[in-house]
Amino acid sequence: MRTVVISGATSGIGRALVEEFAKDCIVFAGYRNENYLDDLQAISGNVRPFFMNMEDKASIAKASAYIKSETNSIDTLINVAGCVVAGAIENIDIDRIRYQFEVNTFGHLDFAQHILPLIKDNGKIINISSMASFGIFPFISPYCASKRALDILFNALQIETHKNIKVISIKPGVIATPLWSKSVEINKNEIKANNGFDKEMKFLAENALKNESRGLDVDKVVKLITKVDALSNPKASYTIGLDAKLSEIFALLPQTLINKMMRYGLRYRIRH
Ligand SMILES: NC(=O)c1ccc[n+]([C@@H]2O[C@H](COP(=O)([O-])OP(=O)(O)OC[C@H]3O[C@@H](n4cnc5c(N)ncnc54)[C@H](OP(=O)(O)O)[C@@H]3O)[C@@H](O)[C@H]2O)c1
Repeated sequence: MRTVVISGATSGIGRALVEEFAKDCIVFAGYRNENYLDDLQAISGNVRPFFMNMEDKASIAKASAYIKSETNSIDTLINVAGCVVAGAIENIDIDRIRYQFEVNTFGHLDFAQHILPLIKDNGKIINISSMASFGIFPFISPYCASKRALDILFNALQIETHKNIKVISIKPGVIATPLWSKSVEINKNEIKANNGFDKEMKFLAENALKNESRGLDVDKVVKLITKVDALSNPKASYTIGLDAKLSEIFALLPQTLINKMMRYGLRYRIRH
C-alpha cells in the first residue's frame, strides 16, 4: 500500500483528502485538536492520526518522530494546514504576521525537513498554496506573503535537493470550507479595533462569510490533487477555479498598473 502524509486533516480540503486517499493508502493524518481524533479514526482503519500544531516546533519534531517510528517510506506528503491572518498592513501587530508564517510556511518547511529522508525516490510533496500566492489581495497580505514564501521555499527545495522528488504547488481560488468563518473568528480583534479601516474590515468579514458557501466544491480540489499525485511528471504549479486562473493572469501585469486597479477597486467597491 502507498503511504501518504497529510497535515491539517481535520476539516475542509485536508479531511476530504484523507477520505479519498484512505480508500487505498495508509494515511498519516495531522490534527491539532483532540476533539477530531475519533472522527479521523472512524474514516478507515488505514488512517493513522498524529498530533501536530504548526505553531510549535516541539510538536512538529514529535509528530515526525512518530511517523518515522511507524514507517520508513512515504510516497506523498501533502501540506494542507493553514489559516488566514487579515488586517491593514500599516497597523497589524507584527506578531500576527509571525503567527501567519509559523502556521502556513515555517511549520511546513520544518516538518518537510524532518521527514524528507523518508520520501521515496520519485515521491511527491504537494503544497496547498493559494491564488493568494500571486500576491494581489489587500488586507490579507500576511496570508498572500505566507503562501508566496511557501511556494518559493519549496520550489528551492525541489531545485536543490539531491533526492528525486517532485514538489507541486496547488493554488485554489475560493473553496467552500470552514476556513472562511474561522478567519473571521481569528481576526475578530483586527476587524473590531481597525484604526480607521471600518468599511474595509466590514467588507472583508462579510465577503469571507459569503465565500464559505459560494466557493468551489472541495471535491474539485481533491480530484485535481489525486490526478496530480498519479502523474509521473506533474507541473510545478496548478491553479483551480476561474478566480485563481484570472489572478494568475492579473499578476502578470506591471505592478504599477495592478496597484492602480486595486486602489480603484477599493475606492468604488468599498470606500464610496
Ligand atoms: N478554502 C479556500 O478558499 C482556500 C483557498 C486556497 C487555499 N486554501 C488553503 O487550503 C488549506 C486548507 O484550508 P481549508 O480551506 O480546508 O480550511 P479549513 O477547513 O479551516 O482547514 C484547515 C486545516 O488546517 C488546520 N490548522 C489550522 N491551524 C493549524 C495549526 N496551527 N496547526 C495545525 N493545524 C492547523 C485546521 O485544524 P482545525 O480543524 O483544528 O481548525 C484544519 O485541519 C489551507 O492551507 C488554506 O490556506 C484554502
